[in-house]
Amino acid sequence: MQNLTLNNGVTMPALGLGVFQSPPDETAAAVETALGLGYRHIDTAAAYANERQVGEGMRASGLDRDDVFLETKVWVSDYGTDETRHAFEKATRKLGVDTLDLLILHQPAPARWERTLAAYRALEGLLADGLVRAIGVSNFMPQHLARLLPEVDVVPAVNQIELHPYFQQTDVQKADTEAGILTQAWSPIGGITFYPGPWGERRSVLTDETLAALAASHGKSPAQIMLRWGVQQGRSVIPKSTNPTRIAENLDVFDFELSADELARIDALDTGVRSGPDPDAPRDDFFDRVIPEE
Ligand SMILES: NC(=O)c1ccc[n+]([C@@H]2O[C@H](COP(=O)([O-])OP(=O)(O)OC[C@H]3O[C@@H](n4cnc5c(N)ncnc54)[C@H](OP(=O)(O)O)[C@@H]3O)[C@@H](O)[C@H]2O)c1
Repeated sequence: MQNLTLNNGVTMPALGLGVFQSPPDETAAAVETALGLGYRHIDTAAAYANERQVGEGMRASGLDRDDVFLETKVWVSDYGTDETRHAFEKATRKLGVDTLDLLILHQPAPARWERTLAAYRALEGLLADGLVRAIGVSNFMPQHLARLLPEVDVVPAVNQIELHPYFQQTDVQKADTEAGILTQAWSPIGGITFYPGPWGERRSVLTDETLAALAASHGKSPAQIMLRWGVQQGRSVIPKSTNPTRIAENLDVFDFELSADELARIDALDTGVRSGPDPDAPRDDFFDRVIPEE
């Protein structure tokens, strides 16, 4: 497993298991399987409604708490000084842990910026109190970082964004790098380009011909090519699967290398078109969603 060093010196495994849309009744088994196979990083979120099952899977794995890098996210309805502190308490209670390795804001709320800022400052407080080892953001575009950074003391360690060959957000990656923020790819195998959802017409990156050709020449799958493309360029990737075969496949990306020319061929697939939601326009109902206590 390749590790990445965050801007505060904390080490994070480059590849983790994502659990967005993992049904609660399959999540514990997926987490236990992944940890058994060698994964040491899990990415969940309050909004995924499966933190409890992530905790169950971690305990079932028999690993020590310190051996797993645990990342979760605060949902926008919990943004605010007291609300975000309480969100940490809810998350750790469900996960069955005392501390988190990485706690991030799920997305900016540009129209409710004061609450976004208060939430980030609450993360800084949790960091100062030793309750989280690192803090960060998700879906922050350069304009959101430009608003945040002058107002805060701690530069986010991570910015988790939609990032796959069809949508690479090089502007965000550049802004992250300039600020010392590690870019973490969500939908690193392009799930958002093919799984069902209210996202309209999309073209699946998993069936891309260039990726298929690279996969054939390396004896790997298109998903493995995409994950290798991410980790080889120093990004964090968090592929989701609840299928044991695919969980294993997604980890098996550390025994081959893509050439500079091959990396460039994947870079050239960028369409500049987002498949996921626009971070500048969170829906109003996002703020009505109550994250349960238990
Ligand atoms: N911050 C955010 O706003 C945000 C948004 C979205 C996601 N995320 C995080 O990022 C993680 C990953 O993103 P994602 O879940 O959107 O998409 P993804 O990991 O790119 O793709 C997941 C999809 O690919 C399938 N799959 C997994 N491995 C495969 C393989 N080797 N070959 C073919 N299909 C495969 C999965 O189905 P099976 O389970 O059936 O294998 C699932 O449908 C999430 O789980 C979540 O932790 C964050």
